[in-house]
Amino acid sequence: MTFHNLSAEQGDPSAKGSGNAATDKFKHEAVKSDTSPERAFAIYQDVFKAIEDIAHKHQVTYDEYRVLKNWLIQVGEYGEWPLWLDVFVEHEIEKVNYERKGYTGTKGSIEGPYYVENSPKLEWNAEMPMRDKDREATPLIFSGQVTDVDGNGLGGATVELWHADEDGYYSQFAPGIPEWNLRGTIVTNENGEYSIKTLQPAPYQIPTDGPTGWFIASYEGHPWRPAHLHLRVKHPGYREITTQLYFRGGDWVDNDVATAVKPELILDPQQDDNGNNTVNYSFALDKED
Ligand code: DHB
Ligand code: FE
Repeated sequence: MTFHNLSAEQGDPSAKGSGNAATDKFKHEAVKSDTSPERAFAIYQDVFKAIEDIAHKHQVTYDEYRVLKNWLIQVGEYGEWPLWLDVFVEHEIEKVNYERKGYTGTKGSIEGPYYVENSPKLEWNAEMPMRDKDREATPLIFSGQVTDVDGNGLGGATVELWHADEDGYYSQFAPGIPEWNLRGTIVTNENGEYSIKTLQPAPYQIPTDGPTGWFIASYEGHPWRPAHLHLRVKHPGYREITTQLYFRGGDWVDNDVATAVKPELILDPQQDDNGNNTVNYSFALDKED
């Protein structure tokens, strides 16, 4: 499966490169919703009421309207819809859906544009696929347990982990990185435990040379997300969790451009005698409803 794999290409990462790779990946996902015409009409009316209110409140000019139209066209041409939407919209959708169901298990967070399914299966105590270059970064040993909400271990659960490298780039979405670098599907042992060796990721910068970057520059914002691990945790009969974990005290933890940090999702790694960062974090899964 290499349709969005840029790893054979060389050159610097660009907004067009990562945007188009993310768009290409998303276009291969099945998307459908059973929204009724009544619900579609209600949402449509509220969206256009909000646009009407904004146009009046801010007395939007014709020049501004034309700039917006041009920008929307460019977002599509750069393939940046997955980037822009997952930074500025996804966090609110995620929150609404968690709150509606009354879950008590581990909190979710946004998926972002760079998840890829079917990453290599790894034992419960394994090392993530990585290059020699990645071994120069600070090692991170991430261990814990997948449990139900009463704390019973769930053996055979899968923990999909994906994250950026020390330069802030994701495999399959930036050039020159092996296909499955820093992506793996860990299977928990009979007690639900895992212990994974990876590297300490770096903060991630939204590409600044495309329309998402221009958008942020237009209001003099910053394009940074704090360093994070992405996780998807599954076990039959339980609600699947898609979440992210952050690092206490790290840059941008208090000011994430994607507004996706939650206090419960901040890790406190400790350094061991061998210079590894070590951290324990467990996931509690709600029963499927
Ligand atoms: C984006 C990138 C991420 O790595 C992430 O976790 C969320 C959003 C983005 O570029 O849109
Ligand atoms: Fe990310």
